[in-house]
Amino acid sequence: MCGIVGYTGRRSCRELLLRGLERLEYRGYDSAGLALLHDDGRVETIHAVGNLSRLRAAVAAAAGSAGGEAESEALDAGEGRTPDDDATAAHTGIGHTRWATHGRVSEENAHPHCDPEGRVHIVLNGIVENWAELRTRLEARGNVFRSETDAEVVAHLIALHLDQGDPVEAVRRAYRELRGHYAFVALFAGRPGLLVAARKECPLVVGLGEGETFLASAIPAFLRHTRRIQLVEDDEIVVVTPQGARFERVAGALVEREVRLVDWDEDVAEKGGYETFMLKEIYEQPAAIKETIVDRLSDGIALSELGLTAEEARRLRRVVIVGCGTSYHAGLVGRYAIERWARVPVEMEIASEFRYRDPVLDAADLVLAITQSGETADTLAAMRLARERGARVIAVTNVMGSQATREADGVLYTRAGLEIGVAATKTFVAQVAVMLLLGLWLGEARGTLSSTERDRLITELRALPDAVRETIERVREPVRAIAEHWQSAGFFLYLGRHIGLPVCLEGALKLKEISYVPTDAYAAGEMKHGPIALLDERTPVVCVACDSPVLEKVLSNIAEVRARGAHVVAVATEGRKEVAEHAEEVIYVPRTDWMLQPIPAIVPLQLLAYEIARLRGLNVDQPRNLAKTVTVE
Ligand code: F6R
Repeated sequence: MCGIVGYTGRRSCRELLLRGLERLEYRGYDSAGLALLHDDGRVETIHAVGNLSRLRAAVAAAAGSAGGEAESEALDAGEGRTPDDDATAAHTGIGHTRWATHGRVSEENAHPHCDPEGRVHIVLNGIVENWAELRTRLEARGNVFRSETDAEVVAHLIALHLDQGDPVEAVRRAYRELRGHYAFVALFAGRPGLLVAARKECPLVVGLGEGETFLASAIPAFLRHTRRIQLVEDDEIVVVTPQGARFERVAGALVEREVRLVDWDEDVAEKGGYETFMLKEIYEQPAAIKETIVDRLSDGIALSELGLTAEEARRLRRVVIVGCGTSYHAGLVGRYAIERWARVPVEMEIASEFRYRDPVLDAADLVLAITQSGETADTLAAMRLARERGARVIAVTNVMGSQATREADGVLYTRAGLEIGVAATKTFVAQVAVMLLLGLWLGEARGTLSSTERDRLITELRALPDAVRETIERVREPVRAIAEHWQSAGFFLYLGRHIGLPVCLEGALKLKEISYVPTDAYAAGEMKHGPIALLDERTPVVCVACDSPVLEKVLSNIAEVRARGAHVVAVATEGRKEVAEHAEEVIYVPRTDWMLQPIPAIVPLQLLAYEIARLRGLNVDQPRNLAKTVTVE
């Protein structure tokens, strides 16, 4: 959560920082701010509550629109030119987009923060757990705080140590006093051309340009300017100048860090003609699945990244899957696939609960941690606990180099590309695809899946990208009509059984998070044990009634719903005419093997949530109170 950027180099950086923050806005958008270090050593800070358009307006007002426009034009025109004649130009700066943790959403709490004399300015992502204790100590020395944030405490602390040493030493000493997980970047009044950053369990990456260096929570912030990156590790201090970055352990030793080349397409961070990132990402789902599966299906199922031998797979006693939110739902599909094909017990756990219930684990357990960002604090904590107890931990993530990849015994990447919309879509289908692959691989390794059945399922998997493409084209219009009809409904119930249930849970989550409509998702057989009391003729009930051995049971549940006058919208497999006899509306999706149906079936539910939110005039890419990366517990 929270996005941080830093720049020092030959160019004036106001517009560079703003554009970098725009690429990170998915990480938080409660408030934002910049600190610009002018060449005469003066620091100018600008804050705004709300999303980046507010900060942009505040920056324009502060600079005078001419200065801002000149920088913007310079960037658009090939980016080499520095508007040096602009008296407001600064060549070193930091920026932040915030998802509030400590302190309410207000201008005072917006980063960057500084010490009382304005010598040290910092942006911070994460949480300093002992901030209250440190603040009390600093207050006892007479320090007065302007905000309620932990970041301001860090700025005061660095300033305190600055009295006894140089900026790098001051950061090092301050860092030693902090507990928690965080990444921060500091700049120092009177020291243009210098940024000092540190990291503990929160993402931070360096971008190396020609005569300029970037720092950010994520690569897209500077991808337009450079593809040469260096990853910052835990407990490292990074000293950044226009010539590059020097890495030091907190203990003092210098570290050589390899330079990696990023091959991402910069266009992934653009809307590419779509009205929102979320819609673009829904349309990218066929590609996300294809990228994720295609080279793993070349000769049987190839998952060497697992680092597991067939013998080890046979000896497994249990699989435990942990995740949060959408990733948890993908894990639920995985549970059905692994149990069915590999005949090994699977336990599904919400990561934030798992870590506190003293789970019984040992070396005979395989733990799968699903996290698209690779940064979710609860999932990371669950992974650590599982490893401590001797289990083998595999991360399933979409982000190369993320924290989850560093804390796992093996990594299975989803290859959905960068997802910017806060509501997960393409990463979900890619996660489900990985779960299916894993189920097949384990089934093969354990000898519980015949080669004929495996080959048939591989053929079905290969056809999934096309099935999803066809689904999107086919359901867009009918879903829009349903959304128009039900856009003002006060509540939606989702019902499904077996692998239809995770689809319902995910569809209901999508609707509530982007349109703020209350929803509930239930195992259809459980409806009569409570939720049936909610039903009346104003209730839309979305039923996943795709092909499965329990279809008839689902149809009986639908009949129970209709007997209470509620309105049924069913998602069914093409050709299943009987579903239409039970529902007011049916959205048909292409036929696949029934175990693979969650992938096409989620598409109409994503689009239903999308259309309702748009009809309600809401910002689907940045729903209120949410952030794409949840790095706090
Ligand atoms: C919902 C959504 C969240 C995430 C959850 C876990 O659309 O995106 O529920 O799935 O915050 O995030 P990751 O997968 O990054 O661990």
